[in-house]
Amino acid sequence: MKIHVAIATLILLIQNALCVDNRAAMATKCVNTLGITFYTAAQLQTIFSCADPQLYATPTNTTAMISVAKDCIINNSGSKALAALSLYTNINSCLSPDDILTLAEEWATPLTKLTKTLTNKCIKKIKTCKAAGTGQEACLQKFYALAKAGITKAYVNKICTKFVKQNLSKAQYACGVKYAPQIMDITGYKCATLTIS
Ligand SMILES: *[C@@H]1O[C@H](CO)[C@@H](O)[C@H](O)[C@H]1NC(C)=O
Ligand SMILES: *[C@@H]1O[C@H](CO)[C@@H](O)[C@H](O)[C@H]1NC(C)=O
Ligand SMILES: *[C@@H]1O[C@H](CO)[C@@H](O)[C@H](O)[C@H]1NC(C)=O
Repeated sequence: MKIHVAIATLILLIQNALCVDNRAAMATKCVNTLGITFYTAAQLQTIFSCADPQLYATPTNTTAMISVAKDCIINNSGSKALAALSLYTNINSCLSPDDILTLAEEWATPLTKLTKTLTNKCIKKIKTCKAAGTGQEACLQKFYALAKAGITKAYVNKICTKFVKQNLSKAQYACGVKYAPQIMDITGYKCATLTIS
């Protein structure tokens, strides 16, 4: 048994020494574990990299982060433009007379609140790393290591369930469950099988 622990520790040490790319690992986890299907891991990695300089520059400015993240998604979704437009049209007709982008702006506040603990932990990592004089890429690697550890399927399910129960109407939830499979594989998420009254 002890030998296994020793080998596991050794592997971890080697991984750290070889600078395993946590950004790439996070992107792979989004696809392989969390079920994202709309983007490939490579596309997600590009989107993450695009937002990284802003994350390092202003980790605590949520407004700036959301704005840049939005631009990064738009700028790197060329091949998905048609699929995204069709999804947008369909989900709006389901939500009518509401618009998904308007709703998303309203939902940003409760979602930010629900994810605050993990977000703060990750942001603090960047802040202390910067304060110690460490460079952008090294700090971002630490950030992605923490984010990857925290964002498990169980975590996503927990946040999703709380959000649905407190912030979604029955009709909005039905539209969500109908169209979510165009973005991700929702099997295994209890959040997709709730009964909302
Ligand atoms: C946050 O970023 C926004 C957009 O870039 C900017 O207008 C605002 O002044 C920033 N806020 C702070 C507190 O730096
Ligand atoms: C997105 O693309 C526009 C136009 O090419 C560019 O001006 C902008 O800086 C890009 N934004 C990001 C965050 O990469
Ligand atoms: C979400 O739910 C919380 C808690 O009930 C509430 O304070 C908030 O106003 C809701 N926000 C939206 C956009 O529905």
